[in-house]
Amino acid sequence: MRGLKDSVAIVTGGARGIGKAIVNRLASEGVKVVIADILDDIAKETSAEFNGAGYTTVPYKVNLREVSEINKLVDFTVETYGTVDILVNCAGIQIRNASATFSEADWDAINDVNLKAQFFACQAAGKIMLEKGKGSIVCISSGTAMRYTSRRSPYNITKAAVNALAGALGNEWARYGVRVNAVAPGWSATDMVKDGLRMGVIEEKEILPMVPVNRFMEPSEMADTVCYLASDESSGIVGQTIYVDGGGSLRCIPEKNDLAYDE
Ligand SMILES: NC(=O)c1ccc[n+]([C@@H]2O[C@H](COP(=O)([O-])OP(=O)(O)OC[C@H]3O[C@@H](n4cnc5c(N)ncnc54)[C@H](O)[C@@H]3O)[C@@H](O)[C@H]2O)c1
Repeated sequence: MRGLKDSVAIVTGGARGIGKAIVNRLASEGVKVVIADILDDIAKETSAEFNGAGYTTVPYKVNLREVSEINKLVDFTVETYGTVDILVNCAGIQIRNASATFSEADWDAINDVNLKAQFFACQAAGKIMLEKGKGSIVCISSGTAMRYTSRRSPYNITKAAVNALAGALGNEWARYGVRVNAVAPGWSATDMVKDGLRMGVIEEKEILPMVPVNRFMEPSEMADTVCYLASDESSGIVGQTIYVDGGGSLRCIPEKNDLAYDE
């Protein structure tokens, strides 16, 4: 895609799941990628796997709850690859509990990773992009930013705020050549969702009737859209949230899978 080859990206949460697919997709376009994750060993394995395939990636251990660590991540990227052109804020956590008893500590954790870190990563990487007059930031939101899930309200709230973050910074920075957008994934069978399935708080038979394509999303489908938004091919798109959810944001009530159109 236009404008990607030899550029430099940071992908937070890039060690596994959707973030890993994003690293793969960007690196396959010739982007040098910093895989920024708290799961150090997995980030190292992911980086080694991709470098073995001829890509250029480097793992970096970061706890995104600390703004000072986010700033060091951006410094490391500039020291290693010379600049930063693309930031993908993909790291996120899920904590499931009823709103009536949700603890302050859990609120702080989910808010720190899902929202505060996204803002301050935008700020740290954005400073470099604004100086250069060019850059693209993609924030990972969720289909549950606008279709809510009980017992996960702080997650819903942070993800709705991510859509606002993309809009607000997109509005502020576009005139300086820096575009900010969001991608909202639908249900994707990564570790985060498998945890929920294992715990029994979500069930496949309840999820799929709410998804018009009647299947889980593939992480690569999110990665394709992120890659497009990172590239110059999306140069007119600013502050938008694109739902890559198989149509899940359209559906109001569950639909049976045996709809027969030839009846
Ligand atoms: N899987 C889905 O169905 C789904 C749906 C909607 C949105 N999302 C969003 O997509 C993104 C990726 O989710 P996933 O399903 O791949 O989950 P995942 O749990 O597999 O990956 C999340 C990554 O973020 C990293 N991370 C978490 N806390 C961190 C911290 N403090 N510092 C650094 N890294 C940290 C984890 O180590 C992990 O590698 C998340 O933002 C999530 O909210 C996922």
